[in-house]
Amino acid sequence: MNLKNDLILRAANGKKIERTPVWLMRQAGRILPEYRKIRNSLSGFKELVETPHLAAEVTIQPVDILGVDAAIIFSDILVIPEAMGLQYEMIEKKGPYFPKTIESQANIDSLNNSDLEDHLSYVFEAIKITKNELSQRVPLIGFAGAPWTIFAYMIEGQGSKTFSKAKSFLYREPELAHMLLEKITISTIEYLKLQIKAGVDLVQIFDSWAGILSPEYYNEFGMKYVHKICDKINQVPLTVFSKGAFFALQSMKNLNCNTIGLDWTMDINQAINLFDNTKTLQGNLDPCVLYGDFNLIEKKTKEMLNNFAGNRHIANLGHGVYPDTNPEKVKCFIESVKSNN
Ligand code: CP3
Repeated sequence: MNLKNDLILRAANGKKIERTPVWLMRQAGRILPEYRKIRNSLSGFKELVETPHLAAEVTIQPVDILGVDAAIIFSDILVIPEAMGLQYEMIEKKGPYFPKTIESQANIDSLNNSDLEDHLSYVFEAIKITKNELSQRVPLIGFAGAPWTIFAYMIEGQGSKTFSKAKSFLYREPELAHMLLEKITISTIEYLKLQIKAGVDLVQIFDSWAGILSPEYYNEFGMKYVHKICDKINQVPLTVFSKGAFFALQSMKNLNCNTIGLDWTMDINQAINLFDNTKTLQGNLDPCVLYGDFNLIEKKTKEMLNNFAGNRHIANLGHGVYPDTNPEKVKCFIESVKSNN
């Protein structure tokens, strides 16, 4: 059976579309009371991620409640370090924490690159259930963190404003850094392939901490590995979102991917001129616009759409929706895209 709404797939492939498709990064989650109800009945975030029928349920909520043109599987980029041997905890109101981090070659050698299908079976099961329950209404997006962003958490052990531990590792131990990035890349390629095998229709790579590296270092320790992933994933359309890395856009022209994510600091016209419709652009409304009133949201959304008009585009925010955003404001953003002509 074919997808009833395949706008995002057609947009990613540069084909003709009736209107611009729209979804939101982090659409599955705390903005919805329906999500919080399920989440609060459990021991925590991880239990939800690891319980396939519930992960499927919260994946589908934004399709039913918000009317987005795609679902994104409810999981986290941090399941990869965990499958490789570094357990994470999700601490309420603080974020991720890794009791064990990577400091030495011995630590890197002890990381595991096998049995991913087994370790992450809950993700693949959630994908299968979601695909079944979506009944082809909209495409399902799979995802993974980019190697540099995963590396940053594996070294730092938690979120950070500067990620100075992870960054200084690149300066102090460049060879070990490459060794670790290589291992993460191998797992990530296999993980994305397994998500595709389980049924996802397109995939996105999140390089959330791209923007904290210098252009030289992002090229050497970030983009290099994103290239390797793109070269191995060609079964479904692929999106690369390197947050903050405006300096890398030029080099991303050569990436073997369909779509480039733009954050709200990136200039739409510059990106259009640079990519010249060789890729689809995704983004890039400032998530803070959704704290404005309904008129402002509609106005800013239409402005964004006008800036992209006539070019390959998937509407989204410039980063994940903030957790305290009113779902009615999110709906206003989505409706403003859908009603644009
Ligand atoms: O987009 C979606 O709706 C799908 C689900 C999704 C989550 N995390 C669920 C989640 C996705 C795509 C992610 C990706 C992710 N996770 C990224 C890349 C995207 C980005 O935001 O830059 C990163 C850096 C992480 C790591 C992570 N997970 C952090 C730093 C945190 C804590 C901060 C926060 O946003 O809460 C998480 C937790 C997390 N991941 C939550 C959700 C719904 C909140 C946990 C809860 O319910 O309490």
